[in-house]
Amino acid sequence: MSGILSIAGLGPGGEALITPEVAAALAEATDVIGYIPYVARVAPREGLVLHPSDNRVELDRAALALRLAAEGRRVVVVSSGDPGVFAMAAAVFEALEAGPSHWRDLDIRVLPGITAMLAASARAGAPLGHDFCAINLSDNLKPWTLIEKRLRLAVEADFAMAFYNPRSKSRPEGFTRALALLQEACGDARPMLFARAVSTPEEELRIVPLDRATPDMADMRTMVILGSSQTRIIERPGGALLYTPRSVACV
Ligand SMILES: C[S@@+](CC[C@H](N)C(=O)[O-])C[C@H]1O[C@@H](n2cnc3c(N)ncnc32)[C@H](O)[C@@H]1O
Repeated sequence: MSGILSIAGLGPGGEALITPEVAAALAEATDVIGYIPYVARVAPREGLVLHPSDNRVELDRAALALRLAAEGRRVVVVSSGDPGVFAMAAAVFEALEAGPSHWRDLDIRVLPGITAMLAASARAGAPLGHDFCAINLSDNLKPWTLIEKRLRLAVEADFAMAFYNPRSKSRPEGFTRALALLQEACGDARPMLFARAVSTPEEELRIVPLDRATPDMADMRTMVILGSSQTRIIERPGGALLYTPRSVACV
């Protein structure tokens, strides 16, 4: 029997944001593979083997998934959010490209999920309503100089920006540097959203002007969204709404 490998996104945390397609794949799985906190979101049941592993072993995890699927098992690799956004889908394809040719005959499906950027944006209004970019602020897999270059070019292009992995305990200085660069390059008080643990009971949203943002406002459970020069705030009693208009009159 030939197996199936699904690479699935669990969404940002809330049960209601898991797609029916992902729920169905999990219900039929024989094996679930992923980073420890993501596998912990999958309910154990008879006939299901859970394979939690550490954050730094993405390629080993991908190879295990491919091997088990080649043995005929129904494997689901889980990521938070969407599996194609700074997550396991690319890692599985890296292992597939480097692995034995028979892996290429496998039935492999990528099942999308709601990425943190879109969940955070929706909670605050529509800050990504016009052109935007997404940048991973971790320098684990790329040099810091490249991150700085991309930040400067994104400011120059006047994109709204969504930042994943803003600030970890092991590299707290990165976000301090990114924030200083953005404050200097933008030179204004455009709104910045700090959306933490969106769709979970610990959810917290804060909107501050860029020139008053401080590094301690972000951690690894936070999505940071910086508006473009056009992004606006609508104040209202039930809480401010953040949005970027759909049109730009002139450049
Ligand atoms: C390794 S990336 C994985 C992104 C994931 N694949 C996605 O599509 O959302 C992890 C980062 O996503 C963001 N993130 C994930 N879940 C979040 C949530 N519920 N609330 C806010 N940010 C979240 C944080 O910036 C975190 O550091």
